[in-house]
Amino acid sequence: MTDIITLPTASWNQPVPTADRELAIDVLERGGVLLFPQLEFPVLPGEALLLSPEVAGKTKNVSLNPSTGALRGSSVNDAALQQLRNMMSRFATSSRDLLRNVVPRYETGLEQARTSFRPAEIRGRHTSPRKDDTRLHVDSFPSSPTQGDRILRVFANINPHGSTRNWKLGESFEDVARRFLPSISGPVWGSDRMLRLLRITKRRRTAYDHYMLQLHDRMKADSAYQSQVAQSAYDFPAGCTWMTFTDQVSHAAIAGQYALEQTYHLPVNSMLDPSRAPLRILETLLGRELT
Ligand code: SIN
Ligand code: FE
Repeated sequence: MTDIITLPTASWNQPVPTADRELAIDVLERGGVLLFPQLEFPVLPGEALLLSPEVAGKTKNVSLNPSTGALRGSSVNDAALQQLRNMMSRFATSSRDLLRNVVPRYETGLEQARTSFRPAEIRGRHTSPRKDDTRLHVDSFPSSPTQGDRILRVFANINPHGSTRNWKLGESFEDVARRFLPSISGPVWGSDRMLRLLRITKRRRTAYDHYMLQLHDRMKADSAYQSQVAQSAYDFPAGCTWMTFTDQVSHAAIAGQYALEQTYHLPVNSMLDPSRAPLRILETLLGRELT
């Protein structure tokens, strides 16, 4: 079962004691969730208007490229747009500060990817099974191959009405892999180049990305698996922050509204124990290199 371990950190940029740092990296790499119940991301008074589902229009999420400031998916006027960008870039910076203090070992390897704002209520949303994050899955995205790099995500529940964000957590990555790998065939020869040529992928979809995407899809598509696999529920309170490797941790978000999320990529070699990476686990189980 996935562990949720709590750290008392109450500020985004404050040194974390050595014992907590050692615990943190171990929990993350073993596929646990690191929870900061006292770490609240402050929404400024002028930003309160942004806490409305209309801000994201049809796309449900707004995404920011923190290095260029480009915003996607929002449907607000220019004044609100600037406030939205401010709030999201503040979260991008704060999450970076937090990681520097909690897992300094990752600092040189971390690559900051998209920031997202999620103002839509999850419960009752209609999507295809493949896009349905209320079903247990490990993260893998068709157009963004990581080529083995890890996906580390920082979440903050900024719900102004005190509502929780409700997750489910499933079995370990190794158990997921052992269960589904036998029925997954390898990538079709030449498909990586074809996907790239057609610009379906932003970079080459390696064999690793192929297997991860298949795991993601098979997990979500298997209703019996969804109902029968060992799982636990956890409701993240409003005003808290958490982080986890979502490419490794079987997770589902079943309810909740108003969250901020920051994605990071991390090379496997930046880990304290690279043998815990999905890449290494899949390579061991399949007996071959995947990138
Ligand atoms: C997900 O990564 O599946 C969704 C998590 C969330 O929005 O809480
Ligand atoms: Fe996910």
